[in-house]
Amino acid sequence: MSTGEGWQGSGGHPLDPQVRWMLRVALVIFAYTIVIGILNGLDLVEFSRQQLLSHLHGGTLGWMTLAILGVTLWLFGAGESSTTARSARVLAWAAPVSIAAYVLAFATTTGGLRPVAGTATLLVLIGAAVWAFRRAPSVTLSVPHLFVLLGLTSSVIGGTFGVINGLAIAFDWTWVPASFFGAHPGTMEVGFIIPVAMGLAEWGLRRGRLEPRVTRAGRIQVGLMFLAFAWVLGFTLAELDEVAGLGIVFAIVGLGFFYARLGGIMRTTSVAARSAERHALAGGVLLGVTIVYIFVVIQMAGGDFMQVPRGQLIAFIHLMGVGATTNALLAFVVHLSRRVSPATMVDDVIFWGVNVGVLGFVVALTTDVRAMIVVFVPVMGLGLLTAIVAHVGPLGRGPTAVPPPAVATPEPLG
Ligand code: HEM
Repeated sequence: MSTGEGWQGSGGHPLDPQVRWMLRVALVIFAYTIVIGILNGLDLVEFSRQQLLSHLHGGTLGWMTLAILGVTLWLFGAGESSTTARSARVLAWAAPVSIAAYVLAFATTTGGLRPVAGTATLLVLIGAAVWAFRRAPSVTLSVPHLFVLLGLTSSVIGGTFGVINGLAIAFDWTWVPASFFGAHPGTMEVGFIIPVAMGLAEWGLRRGRLEPRVTRAGRIQVGLMFLAFAWVLGFTLAELDEVAGLGIVFAIVGLGFFYARLGGIMRTTSVAARSAERHALAGGVLLGVTIVYIFVVIQMAGGDFMQVPRGQLIAFIHLMGVGATTNALLAFVVHLSRRVSPATMVDDVIFWGVNVGVLGFVVALTTDVRAMIVVFVPVMGLGLLTAIVAHVGPLGRGPTAVPPPAVATPEPLG
């Protein structure tokens, strides 16, 4: 049994090149989402619905999902056997290719090509889930591992709804129930992105040194997040949208367990130090804001997610996507990057730019003060673009081999 590879001394990870490659592609695709976001926020370009959908999927699939698949290889790939290593290497190529094609399809077509690229991406998600479950007995499972397993399973369910919806749009399939269109984002948000962001924030806060076993509190936390997902999905499919939103209560209690388990570490993590961990801290805090925010706005809209005003819905998506998940992923990116390049003032520009920017953007969308959008969207966007420019290069370089400890040559006597 190998333990989950910690951040310290992680230079020897067998899938290091594959993971860095996936993160680099993910960051490059994210740049596309960011540029559209900045141009949109500054009202410089009027984007079509389709282009806005590609902005969304560039962020959710191109950046978050691809990077999460990279993290999956890292968490479950430590000390892997040659058979699973071969499948991991196939995944490391198949995932960027299919996901990039899918994002491109969202930008260019509503026709049959979109579900074709979607099916390829779904196969990759199935492959990743099967790979991780096969690897699970050989690694010491921790709460982040369980969240990744839950997230991958949900991504397969959510991806299946997505592909069916794409086929329904392309071929006018009227038999597809309307609830499938709500089930796709519901599953991806509550079952995939939020639990994985929770796991990643813990991984980052613990600096990669995960608990050697899943404690009772950890099991309850994962169980509550699973319940939240199952409740939301079940009642969305039953077309009881007012009841579906109540599932978030389980996530709020799960959040309580997250803070109870990690509060001590969070209190001692400084936002002033130029560390990878401060991104995990911001991710953990903003994950809480995300979950409470969506619960409150759903209740203010009479309990129905579908009735939440558009601005608040968009605010929730950016809190979840940028505030919680991007921060949690950046913690890992910064850690890998630091192995080959030192921290500088640029780290502060990234950290404060992303976080002040996303909070300002969320306040602007919630209060509908458009003038604030013009200020905070570029702040957030430039912070993120700086992160990409700063880290894509270092991610291309593997860790420098640590020289073996020098063997002391005995001084000749006399
Ligand atoms: C994690 C990645 C992201 C996701 C998942 C995401 C998702 C979305 C979604 C779903 C919309 C609504 C589109 C519609 O009108 O139907 C949207 C709008 C928008 N996004 Fe993003 N986005 C992401 C990142 C960004 C970034 C990095 C920026 C800017 C730097 C940005 C700026 C905007 C702006 C300005 C709007 C329009 C807001 C409005 O209509 O007032 N987004 N985004």
